Amino acid sequence: MGGNGKKRKREKQRATIHPNNKYAEAPPDFAQLASLYPSFRPYVKYSPHSDTRPSLDWTDFNATRELSRVLLLHDHNLHWWIPDAQLCPTIPNRSNYIHWLNDLLSSHIIPTNSLDSQQGQVRGFDIGTGANCIYPLLGASLLGWSFVASDVTDVAIEWATRNVNNNPHIADLIEIRKVEHSKKEAPCVDEVGPPLPSIPLDSNVHENKNYDGPPILVGVVRDDEKFDFCMCNPPFFESLGEAGLNPKTSCGGTSSEMVCPGGEKAFVARIIEDSVELKHQFRWFTSMVGRKSSLKSLVSKLWEVGVTIVKTTEFVQGRTSRWGLAWSFLPPIQKPSISLPQKNNMSFMLEGLQRQHGAINVLEAVKSYFSLHGLSSTLNTSAFTVDVVASKDECDSILKNDSSVINKSIDFQPTGETSNGSRLNLSSNGSSLRISVFQQIPGTLLVKGSLQDKRSPLSGEFAAIFQKLEEALRHEFCRRSA
Ligand SMILES: C[S@@+](CC[C@H](N)C(=O)[O-])C[C@H]1O[C@@H](n2cnc3c(N)ncnc32)[C@H](O)[C@@H]1O
Repeated sequence: MGGNGKKRKREKQRATIHPNNKYAEAPPDFAQLASLYPSFRPYVKYSPHSDTRPSLDWTDFNATRELSRVLLLHDHNLHWWIPDAQLCPTIPNRSNYIHWLNDLLSSHIIPTNSLDSQQGQVRGFDIGTGANCIYPLLGASLLGWSFVASDVTDVAIEWATRNVNNNPHIADLIEIRKVEHSKKEAPCVDEVGPPLPSIPLDSNVHENKNYDGPPILVGVVRDDEKFDFCMCNPPFFESLGEAGLNPKTSCGGTSSEMVCPGGEKAFVARIIEDSVELKHQFRWFTSMVGRKSSLKSLVSKLWEVGVTIVKTTEFVQGRTSRWGLAWSFLPPIQKPSISLPQKNNMSFMLEGLQRQHGAINVLEAVKSYFSLHGLSSTLNTSAFTVDVVASKDECDSILKNDSSVINKSIDFQPTGETSNGSRLNLSSNGSSLRISVFQQIPGTLLVKGSLQDKRSPLSGEFAAIFQKLEEALRHEFCRRSA
């Protein structure tokens, strides 16, 4: 279990830009953009060293806004603008969320047609679209999705509408919807009012604060509407002082965009509460989360309210990390698919574990999971691994066995069958999967699965089994850790 620091660093490096992102191969070429767009030229700074790429002054709002404008025009054929001080989106970063959503929607983890949404047309709900309306613009232009995009402020509604109307080729795909709220209920924070007193960036400051702002989903989504997903980049902060703590960049952002009583945790907690009520109207509920500590408690809340599946991902932008959180109430599909993803290495994080649940408990649960399916496996307590060997028939039997095991509590009593790590002999028609567990920080474990024979014909089956194992472990360990 040693070397946690190094492993964390490696994991972090891996969690980078999505492979389908336009900027995955190469970041935007500022020199080329400057030569094509004269209005961008004044913002590009050239270094005297010929081997250094031109850069921008990231603390200059006008420079970051102009970059977003030319990227949207050059790479996405979108005409776009926002007034001074409104939140300016980083295009590669915002695109990652769209691509992650696309992975979720096409993952077949839950039924695709369960909601009978408009035949073949993916329909999303963007909570708090902002003046920039960035997610609907990207989702519609990259993937042809349609959107309802909500916001509470007049300026957001006015500019989101302009940004949609200035792009007639996708304008029919996006409906901008004003969130109506009674006069007594102020929007999150008065946009022109003085900033709230600053509070320290302490992870516990938002503990137990309830959201008491305007409606988010319930009261905004109509009874007869169905969506494939909702998405949200929530107001992350509880005060403007807290929001303005990064002097290295200037992405703008008014108080009503960035700040909300209770911060992101209260806002996303309300989305979770709303999702219970609207569980039959959305396939996936998702949100961005800005703090790891918020993610942890939100995941616990999700298991408490009875979701069937939770997915998380990390978005890394420069030195900033954000997390994607997704959940659903639909029963996961467990049938093996002919086009199973061929993966030799897989991983997921188990977060929010109670103190008494360590790596060994999880490994024992892994072993029990395979025993429940009649497979023998070997637990190595010194290497923190479980090796399991399975034939094609045995894999198929696990995958056919639907939710019976997922919804069963895993018996994580020690079975006594441990080894000191000698390698397994692979049976002639079987392959071996090694499950390893690493502690990241107290309460958080990284679970990895690696196929021992990299050319095994069962890699797709093992990837699907690993996904089922993830659901079972989350159900067992994360649900109880509220
Ligand atoms: C962080 S900004 C995100 C803007 C844009 N989606 C982006 O990613 O750049 C949060 C947005 O949520 C809006 N908002 C706050 N409370 C809301 C509510 N109850 N319903 C809809 N939007 C809300 C704010 O006005 C703001 O535009």
